[in-house]
Parts: sequence; C-alpha cells; structure tokens
Amino acid sequence: MKFTSKTLDPVTTLTQCAIVPVFEGGKLSSSARAINSASGGSLKALLKREDISGKHGESVLLPLIDSVKAERVLLVGCGPKGKMSEAQFNTLLGKITHLIKGKKLEKITVFFDELSVAGKDRNWQAQRVATTLALSSYHFDQFKSKRTRHKSLKQVTYASSSQAYNRGLNQALTTGLAIAKGMGVARDLGNMPGNACTPNYLASEARKLARKHPALSSRILSEKQMQDLGMGSFLSVTAGTVEPARMIVMQYQGAAKSQRPHILVGKGITFDSGGISLKPGAGMDEMKFDMCGAASVFGVLNTVLALKLPINLVCIVAAAENMPSGQATKPGDIVTSMSGQTIEVLNTDAEGRLVLCDALTYAEQFKPQSVIDIATLTGACVVALGNHAHGLYSNDDKLAGELLDCGQAVNDKAWHMPLWPEYDKQLKSNFADMANIGGRNAGSVTAACFLARFTKKYAWAHLDIAGTAWNSGGNKGATGRPVALLSEYLIRQSGKGRRGGKKTSR
Ligand code: BES
Ligand code: MN
Ligand code: ZN
Repeated sequence: MKFTSKTLDPVTTLTQCAIVPVFEGGKLSSSARAINSASGGSLKALLKREDISGKHGESVLLPLIDSVKAERVLLVGCGPKGKMSEAQFNTLLGKITHLIKGKKLEKITVFFDELSVAGKDRNWQAQRVATTLALSSYHFDQFKSKRTRHKSLKQVTYASSSQAYNRGLNQALTTGLAIAKGMGVARDLGNMPGNACTPNYLASEARKLARKHPALSSRILSEKQMQDLGMGSFLSVTAGTVEPARMIVMQYQGAAKSQRPHILVGKGITFDSGGISLKPGAGMDEMKFDMCGAASVFGVLNTVLALKLPINLVCIVAAAENMPSGQATKPGDIVTSMSGQTIEVLNTDAEGRLVLCDALTYAEQFKPQSVIDIATLTGACVVALGNHAHGLYSNDDKLAGELLDCGQAVNDKAWHMPLWPEYDKQLKSNFADMANIGGRNAGSVTAACFLARFTKKYAWAHLDIAGTAWNSGGNKGATGRPVALLSEYLIRQSGKGRRGGKKTSR
C-alpha cells in the first residue's frame, strides 16, 4: 500500500474516489467548492435538495460528475466548520472505511487537509488517516479452504493544501502506515489457532524476521537452556504440555552499541487451558489469544523495522502452552524463579506471571533504559476497565506518564492503576516467598504487584491487555492493540517524534 501527500486540483485528479468534506449549514470545503463550480453547481443543488446538509455522519456517494475526473465523489458531512473533536474524527474515519469497504477501490484521494481536529496538528491527522485506512482492508482467511480474492486499497493520495506541508505529511503517512503494518502482524499472529501458532512457530517467525533484517538478530532459548538459567517458574507452566516452551530473544540495533536498549516483554501463552486449575469450557477457544502480548511485541518490532528507528530494542517473548496432564504443575507446588525468589503456585491458571517473572529477570542483563511487558494477564482487568483501556502499572511515574500520553495520541488508551504495598501484601504465602495469586479482590493489581517484585532493577511498566487485545462475539478477532501505543512510545524515544523526542537519561 502506498500513501503519498500531494497538492492536487480536485477537479482534474484522476482517482477512483475523491473523499471531500462538506460542513454544517451547507458550507462547502474548498475542494467541494472547486468540484461544485466545475460541475455547474451540482453540489449546491444537492444541498438544496437536502440530500446532505453537512452534519456529522452524513454522506453521499456521487458517481460520475460532469467535468470532474474522479470516478466517484464521496461527500462526507463534517459538522460545523472549524474544529471537530477527536472522537468525531474517529467516527468520521470509521464511517468512511465502512463506506469504501466492498467497493473494490484500489486508488482513492482524500481531501482532509482542510479539516482540523481540536488540539491536534495536520500531521497527527494524516497519520491517523493512514493507520485507519490501511487497516480497513485487513482480513484473515489463511485457514479457509476457499479464499476470496480481495481487492484492497493500494494507493491513497492525501491532498495537501500547500507544498510546504508535504514533507511533514509524507512522514506522518509513512508512520501511520508502519503502525498499521505492525497491527496487522499482531492481528495475524493473534488470530492463528493454537495448533498452528505454537511456541516453536513463534520462534520460527523470530528467526525468519532476523534473516530478513540485518539490524535484527534472534536467539531462541530451549527448555534445557532455561533450566540452566534457573527459570523454574517459567518451566513450571510448560510441565503439562508436549509442546516445547521457548524463550525468544530478538535484538534490534538501530543506534550505537553503547546506547542502552528499550525492552519489550510479551506474554506468549499460545493456549491457556488453565492447567490443572482447568478453565470452564465456554469460550475457552478465546484462550488462543493468550499470546496477544507476544503478538504485539512482534507487531511493534515490525513497525520499528519499517521505520528504521534509531534506537536499540530488545524483544523477549515468553512462549509456552498451559495444559493439564499427569506431569503438570499442581496447586500447592513450590517453584524457584530465576531471581531466586520462591513461588507457591496456588492456581495454575495464574500462569502468565509465572512465565513473565523469569523473562523480566532475564531482561536485567541488557541494562535497559526501560522495560515494558505486555500481557493478557487477568480477567479482573476486563472487569475493571472493559474493552477500552489497557491497565497500566509502573514503578516509574515518568515512564507511566509518557505511556499514558502516547496512548492518548494514537487512540490506544491506557489507564494508570496502583501498585501500593497494601495490595502487594495479598500475595503472602505461608510456605514460599510469595503465592502466585492474591485472592479475589483487585486481581489485576495483585498480578501486577507480583511482577513488580521482579523488576526492581530498572524502570518498568506493565500493560494488562486482557480486555483490549481481542474482540469477542460476531467480530471475534485480535485488535492489534497496543501496537500503536508502543510504536508511538519508541518513536518518541528515538527523537523522531513530531513533538520532538525527549531523551530519557536513566
Ligand atoms: N489468560 C488469563 C487471563 C484472561 C482471562 C484474559 C480472560 C482474558 C480473558 C490468565 O492466565 C488467567 O487465567 N488469569 C486468571 C488469574 C486468576 C487465577 C488469579 C484469571 O484472570 O482468572
Ligand atoms: Mn491462565
Ligand atoms: Zn493466561
């Protein structure tokens, strides 16, 4: 897919569909005005007939207008001229993707540079358009025996109102497209069934990516190697399955070797049955999505590679399957983590934290600037925040603030949750250093408190994406979140951010 910004004449532009705004009260945008005068007042006539008035959410698709080169003109109502809210802009984009879907369009042109969204600049707008339109043609049919041939968008031209804006707009479009690519990768991995997307499959994807990109190297730890490193907690999760577990380490070097890396750690439970603490049957298929944290790490890495960000990044994926069997870990078993801390496994279904804690200890050797883990960690997080925001926890308020900001900027929001000692106390065990569960109350918080015990040596944040990583019901499927948030974070860290990157000096 190609996105480019150009200054264009809306009348003579050859395109399959020109998307043109009109404002409330029948006010034409400048592109609409041009089309109107070229076509002898056809748009004004339309407004007069009240086919469209410019209100939010309205639209009319006009085929073949006299003396206008575009094959179609899609008029979209944008509300009162001036500023629209971000939410209204999102609705508008949603509406447009809905309208162009199924129209088999390959080349479209959007005249959006004359819209303005409150508090946002033109580049922000272009980036959002690129991400949304690029994802509008996402489909997942790898596993259907008959695949439909999709005609998806190939070329989007973003009409710019001045030559001087093109450079910035083009960069924003490239970023938006790279984020969509990362989200697509995350969705694809997330949507794959557990019998195809195994820990070994994720490892092979890592190797494949490293072969393709010279700046990336991969290292796959076997169970034997994890054993030698003392990862007793991680290994307790994989005890019941025949699928071998893998710790996948991918190192991207985009900056001087001396620059400390950022680290992403993904929960990669390729299927979570609960183990001996078996989950109920209804909806258990959705536990194939329990590797969406890992999928988002692969996604962000793809974005970073596409943008060639000048940062160093280490990606760690803790990949295992959680199954019951005669060899499986039992409630009450005590295991020793790589950090030396012992854990009483009171519930084998609280397995995410068990694989993550060893991955987080493993991360220490890289002397990171920041470590962010991403995990479909708790059902309790879904209860607390629903499907709208990721649960954000951090031992560093500055890092937390930056992540909250990034989520806002790219419509991939997180909400800051507490890590107070009162909650941490719930993890007390009579027999080991800690239990792996903290009781019924505040389940998402106590899970994060558990992880916090393994992240004392660096600035760390945890995203609980249990409610945001996938949709259930009719449009069941991975969302690709929080690739946008994390990409934005790394872009800002790289100093490539539009608002100027703040270099953290940790
Ligand atoms: N993968 C689940 C969390 C989950 C559940 C995510 C439902 C999305 C939807 C995790 O491994 C889990 O089973 N957590 C338990 C923890 C409990 C045993 C303390 C949970 O949330 O029920
Ligand atoms: Mn579980
Ligand atoms: Zn799980």
